[in-house]
Amino acid sequence: MKLFRALQAQGFGSRKACRLRVRAGTVAVNGVRCTDPDAEVDPASLELGVDGGLWPYRERAYIVLHKPAGYECSHQPTHHPSVFALLPAPLVQRGVQCVGRLDQDTTGVLLLSDDGQFIHRMTSPKKGVTKTYRACCAEPVTPTMLAALLDGVQLHDAPAPVAALACEAVDADGLKLMLAEGKYHQVKRMIAAAGNSVVALHRESIGAWALPADLAPGSWRWLDAEDLERLERTWPSVKS
Ligand code: URA
Repeated sequence: MKLFRALQAQGFGSRKACRLRVRAGTVAVNGVRCTDPDAEVDPASLELGVDGGLWPYRERAYIVLHKPAGYECSHQPTHHPSVFALLPAPLVQRGVQCVGRLDQDTTGVLLLSDDGQFIHRMTSPKKGVTKTYRACCAEPVTPTMLAALLDGVQLHDAPAPVAALACEAVDADGLKLMLAEGKYHQVKRMIAAAGNSVVALHRESIGAWALPADLAPGSWRWLDAEDLERLERTWPSVKS
């Protein structure tokens, strides 16, 4: 593959912009500056150095963002900044999309990728990838409320009652619940249908993959093959 094409594939701009970057001497190939845009590079063992930053070549981008409150999962946000503002420009330029959406006030695990098949697998209700949330409620969590969430509550846009796969209290007004689908405002609407309301919501995990404690709100990191395998593995309990 030619160097300028590798840069283009990783989101460093148009063909022309990538050629100019290389000619300007701002690009390194595996640690060695290269000024020939047509130099042949091997994507399998390629680390690009661009403007001082290091970018291992990745055919597809899989990343996790610790979403902070006050950001919208949209390229055209209406009332808050976009989560895409938290990512470096090349990731946005190469077209990563949110893998499902979180509300602007929800925090926690947000996956982004430019792999359409991966996005489909992670979000399709047929695949049943589990998501675990921790909700802080306005009123105390009661056994009746937990039973309702486990038995199923009626949502106006669902033909049948919707049930949590698992649900348990974590403190007086907090609970964890696991879902295998992602309807609009699903957690907030289920908790409202069970007679309470959500004051704070955090997505802790997807499948058997939990948000690492050292990933600060607003930070992101690449996901590797082991992370991807855990994401699609069902975790049989809300306990992490
Ligand atoms: N359910 C909600 O109500 N909000 C979210 O952001 C995610 C799940």
